[in-house]
Amino acid sequence: MLAHADHPISAPVNDANVHKLMARAVVAPDSHVLDLGCGTGTWLQRLLAERPGTTGVGVDSGPRTVEAARRSAEELGLADRLTLHCLDAKEYRCERRADAVFCVGATHAFGGLRETVLGCAEHLAEGGTMLIGDGFWERPPGEATLRALDCTAEEYRDLHGTVELVEKLGWQVVYAHTSTLDEWDDYEWNWTGSLTRWALTNPGHEAAADALEEAARHRTAWLNGYRGTLGFVTMLLMRND
Ligand SMILES: C[S@@+](CC[C@H](N)C(=O)[O-])C[C@H]1O[C@@H](n2cnc3c(N)ncnc32)[C@H](O)[C@@H]1O
Repeated sequence: MLAHADHPISAPVNDANVHKLMARAVVAPDSHVLDLGCGTGTWLQRLLAERPGTTGVGVDSGPRTVEAARRSAEELGLADRLTLHCLDAKEYRCERRADAVFCVGATHAFGGLRETVLGCAEHLAEGGTMLIGDGFWERPPGEATLRALDCTAEEYRDLHGTVELVEKLGWQVVYAHTSTLDEWDDYEWNWTGSLTRWALTNPGHEAAADALEEAARHRTAWLNGYRGTLGFVTMLLMRND
């Protein structure tokens, strides 16, 4: 939560691109939107604030995260249009199918990209769109990258392989945003910087030393491990038929 204080979108996507992606994903003014792995609900809150006719459901397994999402929805006057569930995304069963389903930076909730596409599709109304954000290899990962991310090379594909996988499942990429290195850097400097700043301004807090250590660990994993090798793509998908 502290790490995301200055970059509430928990993915390397800047505000202008978040806006652009949502504008393409959600077209009808009375759309119903589901966000699986919604974090503090920032995507949905921005959408609902801009479109008074829309409704949303956010699902996240982190109790504190969902509590924060609930608080900010109330503060923004969106609580009557935004339902939040503290739940494993795989366990969620929808009461109403959504016109758009988002899952950005949370494909691990389903066990990977393939499972995420299949899982999100279960909640989608006919003719709806899905916005899926996941990592891909900008270049083949070396040992340092795999160690930093604690993953295998097979966990992600290159960009073409990522699109191919989605197409094999029966979906077409009708638009996508590939995060720039600037977006990644801004995301990671915010992540590590916000945590560090909090630790330095709260030196007496029992968690200050841990926060400093965690920020340093994360920064090393990024700068010494995955910077420039792990990419991030947010794909807008529609069904073939
Ligand atoms: C990197 S954040 C992305 C949050 C949000 N989509 C965004 O872009 O701002 C990943 C989120 O997935 C949530 N998450 C992880 N495993 C989950 C699961 N099994 N079910 C639901 N949410 C999960 C985490 O709590 C976290 O809030």
